[in-house]
Amino acid sequence: MPFTAYRVYIEDGKPVGRIETLDENSLPDGELTIAVTHSSVNYKDALSARGRPGVTRRYPHIPGIDAVGRVIAVNEQPHHEQPASHKTDDGRQADDQAAVGHRSTAQATGAGLASTARPAGGHASAGPATHRFSPGDRVIVTGFDFGVNTPGGFGSMIRVPADWAIPLPERLSPLDAMRFGTAGFTAGLSLLEIERSGVEPGSRPVLVTGSCGGVGSVAIGVLHAAGFTVHAATRSPEESGERLRSIGADEVVATDVLVGDSEKALAKGQWAAAIDTVGGSVLSGALAGLQRAGVATACGLVGGSRFNASVMPFILRGVRLVGIDSAYASRADRSEVWSRLAGPWRPEALAAMSSEVELDGINAVVDLLLDGKHRGRTVVTHGGNS
Ligand SMILES: NC(=O)c1ccc[n+]([C@@H]2O[C@H](COP(=O)([O-])OP(=O)(O)OC[C@H]3O[C@@H](n4cnc5c(N)ncnc54)[C@H](OP(=O)(O)O)[C@@H]3O)[C@@H](O)[C@H]2O)c1
Repeated sequence: MPFTAYRVYIEDGKPVGRIETLDENSLPDGELTIAVTHSSVNYKDALSARGRPGVTRRYPHIPGIDAVGRVIAVNEQPHHEQPASHKTDDGRQADDQAAVGHRSTAQATGAGLASTARPAGGHASAGPATHRFSPGDRVIVTGFDFGVNTPGGFGSMIRVPADWAIPLPERLSPLDAMRFGTAGFTAGLSLLEIERSGVEPGSRPVLVTGSCGGVGSVAIGVLHAAGFTVHAATRSPEESGERLRSIGADEVVATDVLVGDSEKALAKGQWAAAIDTVGGSVLSGALAGLQRAGVATACGLVGGSRFNASVMPFILRGVRLVGIDSAYASRADRSEVWSRLAGPWRPEALAAMSSEVELDGINAVVDLLLDGKHRGRTVVTHGGNS
């Protein structure tokens, strides 16, 4: 069966994205074949689409770390227990083909798609995983190696291990699922960790950094929906303040203030928690500004993958720093977060913070993301499968 995809080649050392028609047989082995209705564009996709080191190793490649669609075939496959995986994320790449059970490139020839046939992480046998799904089921696929070195959601058909999919919650439309996408899931996972640290809606405000971005915008929306007071940090408080308030921010903070505070051992302890999507000195400033027993979650690196910070917030205020890795979140956490995003955490302004493109609109979104000028979330629609 043919399908269409935005596929990236590296030609003369430069990335080139093309829309192509490919054959289903070119897809890697996998338990679920899925007709994709929607995907979304994340920062990691932008890095993959532009051949940036640390994300995708093999080209040509179909990016897209998110997909929602309908299962069209379930294939039982013999399964070999796999060792714990390495992580693959922007800025870090320690994957080892043996660990994630890749087919050989020779097996994956066909239209030349790189392939990963097995889930990372040493999952249980194929039987129980495949038995969770039947043709016709609507599923969300995110995380693991999806869209990284396995053909992703910028193709209208995918084939993945069953462990990479979770059922689309009943209360969530496919479009809304991709309005969240990995960015929204990461925002939800961050809030889950904040809750686990004992921070409650009645606590002091929660700071969000990189507020105009995908993770930041949804984080503001879910925190607001969950009843928290939200302070939104942005590089453009004048220009973006009104928009950020409209999606749930109670106060808008200039990112420069955090950068300034990063030089201090301790700043005014005004936040009970922080969801940091930026990294670098912005994360240092957020840590300095946490109240006693505050918690910061770190998921992003758009502002730098390294940071210098004083130990004072840790030893004088008992502050904690929690890393967020959405790609390898447990199945229990994935189900919990998606269920809450579909219910009590769903932002009222979810539609307002996102826009839609077809495959021919991906290039422009990638440029905006890499320039730090993208706003909110962009959903990719595969019209033919809707
Ligand atoms: N760990 C995980 O599992 C996980 C999952 C998803 C995403 N991420 C990471 O999280 C980060 C954010 O992702 P995203 O999809 O939200 O990206 P995005 O849409 O590009 O948003 C990033 C935002 O950060 C701010 N920003 C950009 N460049 C900056 C700079 N140089 N200094 C300070 N602020 C800057 C901007 O907001 P303002 O204009 O408001 O300042 C921008 O909108 C990325 O690094 C991404 O890879 C990690």
